[in-house]
Amino acid sequence: MRTLSSITVGLAMALAALPLQAANDAAAGRSAAATCMGCHGAPGFRNAYPAFKVPKLAGQQEQYLVVALKSYQAGERIHPTMQAQAGALDEATIGNIAAYLGNLKNSGGGELGDGDAVAGQAKAQLCLSCHGSGGGKPLTPQYPILAGQYPDYLAHTLGSYKSGTRNNPIMKGFAAALSDTDIQDLAAYFASQPSELSTPTDW
Ligand code: HEC
Ligand code: HEC
Repeated sequence: MRTLSSITVGLAMALAALPLQAANDAAAGRSAAATCMGCHGAPGFRNAYPAFKVPKLAGQQEQYLVVALKSYQAGERIHPTMQAQAGALDEATIGNIAAYLGNLKNSGGGELGDGDAVAGQAKAQLCLSCHGSGGGKPLTPQYPILAGQYPDYLAHTLGSYKSGTRNNPIMKGFAAALSDTDIQDLAAYFASQPSELSTPTDW
């Protein structure tokens, strides 16, 4: 019969054998992200059908970027281009790209949307409990910054939660309750807020 100490030693050895979470390498992430920059490094670059600006990634929360890329891999987010892009990445490369982008802080925000940002502010109170003041200080590192994101992307992605092409149990319920006007107003409000999000241009 194994003694407690031999179990403990065995466990310690098993843990030692696990690859420690390698420190993410932002410099490697920068070169790996080169293929992404044709879309994400061109300010205002648009997705066609439907037309919306591709999201700002620089300054986004590192852990959220990992969650997002894995959601495309898992088919929880349906977007053929991004599913192909994310599908080509291994775990380490995802971590490195997220470290590179997440550390590119800039000052931005003040984007103008089609909706009514003042009306959006009143409607946003519930959202702030998770996305933080102005949508810029999320409750956890896995939640996205909304402040300063492109308004048409925010509106598009709220519509995706509603339609189910973006499948997330938390956001599904909140988005389901929103009218098209609510979506435009909320998108205008969050986009207008000061933010560290940007589209990198010096890659
Ligand atoms: C051909 C253009 C294109 C290329 C190339 C591209 N993307 Fe995207 N990316 C998009 C579009 C469009 C979306 C929004 C898709 C959606 O509706 O979910 C997006 C969304 C994302 C998101 C989600 C952002 C958020 O706020 O949830 C991440 C993360 C991302 N891309 C990372 C990458 C990475 C990393 C690469 C390179 C390996 C890359 N993309 C290459 C067009 C592109
Ligand atoms: C209980 C916490 C919670 C609340 C409240 C909440 N959200 Fe979220 N939100 C999340 C999480 C978690 C995600 C990331 C989900 C995923 O991975 O798709 C998210 C994602 C989003 C995104 C996608 C951002 C991007 O970069 O793609 C938008 C837009 C958004 N929320 C808007 C809102 C709005 C508007 C409200 C209020 C009506 C709201 N959220 C309320 C937790 C919350």
